[in-house]
Amino acid sequence: MKTFAIAIIIALAALAADAASAQAPLSPDDVRAIERGKEVYKVKANCQFCHKWDASGDQGYGGNASSLRKTFLNEEQFAEVVRCGRPGTGMPYHDQFAYTDKRCYNITSVELGRIMPPIGEPLQRRDIEAVVKYLFTKAVGRGASTYEECVEFWGQDTRLCEPMKK
Ligand code: HEC
Repeated sequence: MKTFAIAIIIALAALAADAASAQAPLSPDDVRAIERGKEVYKVKANCQFCHKWDASGDQGYGGNASSLRKTFLNEEQFAEVVRCGRPGTGMPYHDQFAYTDKRCYNITSVELGRIMPPIGEPLQRRDIEAVVKYLFTKAVGRGASTYEECVEFWGQDTRLCEPMKK
């Protein structure tokens, strides 16, 4: 009887720990950064135009934009791609001084020549950090997006979300 009670206590403690780590409360700074990052993704840099609203990727203008939900990059590598784009592909760079010196992949525009990536909306470091935080909170490593996430992204139920409705 006693061991049984102990087992239950351990199980409950494990459950509580799980719930706590799954919903680690975001600090007000985090919340602000995520909001800012969403604005960068949705409007300012229009990442969603190529990567789709849920970052699941898309084919079309700009080539085959990969799924950011399924990326293998860590946050640092991810931020580097946002700053520097990816040479030889449609992924634009967002650091306005990229390739003027060796800050990106240790290479300059002269050395890159024709595989220079396209220029994107110039973003401040804070914007880049914010968009990375936003994507790592809302998209990277998560499975397929949901109808609720779609409505949350657009702020309303749109035709885009309809196919996801159950
Ligand atoms: C003009 C279209 C376009 C826009 C705008 C765009 N991307 Fe991309 N992005 C691409 C394409 C195409 C690729 C795939 C590059 C390749 O083939 O390796 C890509 C790749 C990436 C990757 C690499 C993912 C991986 O796992 O290798 C990241 C990270 C990324 N984009 C983030 C962003 C963010 C954040 C923004 C907005 C600030 C953005 N992109 C805007 C087209 C775009």
